[in-house]
Amino acid sequence: MATTTQARTAQTPVPPRLIFGRWRFWLFMVGLIVIMTGLLFGYDQGVISGALQFIAKTFHLSTTLQEVVTSWVTLGALFGALLAGVLADRVGRQKTMLIGGVLFAVGALGESLAPGTWTLVVSRFVIGFGVGIASVAGPLYAAEMAPSSNRGRYVSSYQLAVTIGILLADIADAVLSPGGHWRIMLGLSIVPGVLLLVVALFMPDTPRWYLAVGRRSAARDTLAKVVGGPDLDGRLDTMQAEVSAAKSVKWKDVLAPSLRRAMWVGVGLAVFQQVTGINAVIYYSDEIFKSVGFTTPHEQTIATIISVGCVNVLATLIAIAWIDKFGRKPLLYAGLTGMTVALVAMAICSGVLGHHPTSGHGPSTAGIVTLIGMIVFIASFAFSLGPVVWTLISEIFPNRIRGKAMAVATAFNWAFCFIVSASFLSIVNAIGLGTTFGLFAVLCVIAFFWVRAKVPETKGKSLEQIQQAWAEHDKHRQESRKPEYAAD
Ligand code: BGC
Repeated sequence: MATTTQARTAQTPVPPRLIFGRWRFWLFMVGLIVIMTGLLFGYDQGVISGALQFIAKTFHLSTTLQEVVTSWVTLGALFGALLAGVLADRVGRQKTMLIGGVLFAVGALGESLAPGTWTLVVSRFVIGFGVGIASVAGPLYAAEMAPSSNRGRYVSSYQLAVTIGILLADIADAVLSPGGHWRIMLGLSIVPGVLLLVVALFMPDTPRWYLAVGRRSAARDTLAKVVGGPDLDGRLDTMQAEVSAAKSVKWKDVLAPSLRRAMWVGVGLAVFQQVTGINAVIYYSDEIFKSVGFTTPHEQTIATIISVGCVNVLATLIAIAWIDKFGRKPLLYAGLTGMTVALVAMAICSGVLGHHPTSGHGPSTAGIVTLIGMIVFIASFAFSLGPVVWTLISEIFPNRIRGKAMAVATAFNWAFCFIVSASFLSIVNAIGLGTTFGLFAVLCVIAFFWVRAKVPETKGKSLEQIQQAWAEHDKHRQESRKPEYAAD
């Protein structure tokens, strides 16, 4: 025993390979992978709005089929996310990303060459599968690879890439729309898919997954070259203790009482990210621009690129800079407050705009306030609920069940993304735009107090320390519930 310990401490750490004299090469590659998974998610989320009108013309699509073409990606993503939960544990995190990349590239090729409606619809579903798989595997890989001190930053890069993907899609739509080149718009999404494949092919799996399948030396090599630092074996022992329970984890285990609180937090965050209205506001942005005087579709597209696309990207950088410094919860409090104020302003102004439309007479004060409200809303989401939700979902579950539990939370995110997008217009028709924004504002307030009461702060803790904190919390609760006489 003493010999092993001596041998362990005697091992001198290998100096890290640096690039640009600054970044650890392998950590940089982890960042790149996460960026690729986010890019394909974002590009695909954004591109269809510009392509749809041309696709509808080419294939003479009914309204229902247009809805199918738009929404089946989300449906595919829901199932893809669940499948990723199984794949990530069985074949590993890295191979799961490869599978996501292949499906995405095949689907993108299929939709851009589609000879008819059904090839298009099936390809959209396949792309959705790829996006769903990548949306679980990317953040999971980042969270398990990154050092605790920077983990928030790494997972938030995923959200940054989502926003860059949406912006690039908006730009592609603007450039290719005049010629009606919808096949190129959709076909361009092959690029992030193939890039993901190329980068993921050369990457190792995560130390935690290697430990789970009994490959300690691979785990050690990966930890040494990606994270480095002292006492590698001590850290591996701590991970191993957590991971050992991983064998034969079943889906029903995500409902185990010991996991219940983490599961509620993960699902709650995923649902609140969608029901507070981000995709509805992005979707409605063209109408908002129309109401403040951007009358032609071209003007509206440029306004969308600048005030939705760019603001979304830039504000996400705030999260990257601050998430590991100030923590996850302060960002959520600030973001949800900004979103609530903006929604209330938009709710009031859209009532005014409804009675005094401005088309043709230049922007009104209510129109301008609505526009500012929209920018504040998007910026507030972009530095809070956007990146923080993906970060927390990838941190709060124990190693043994992380893949499946993240898959369930992510599937809820996709399901509510689908529900909100599909029902937004009907809700607006039924209760009016002002009341709909008001409803989103109320949901933001509920989210604020729920975060305060239920969500743990994970800043600076290792994934194993986060688990200990849950266990201690549960122990305290059980003890405080015990009847007085039990203490004697
Ligand atoms: C959400 C997407 C949303 C995007 C906007 C992501 O975190 O999951 O539904 O469209 O942020 O930037």
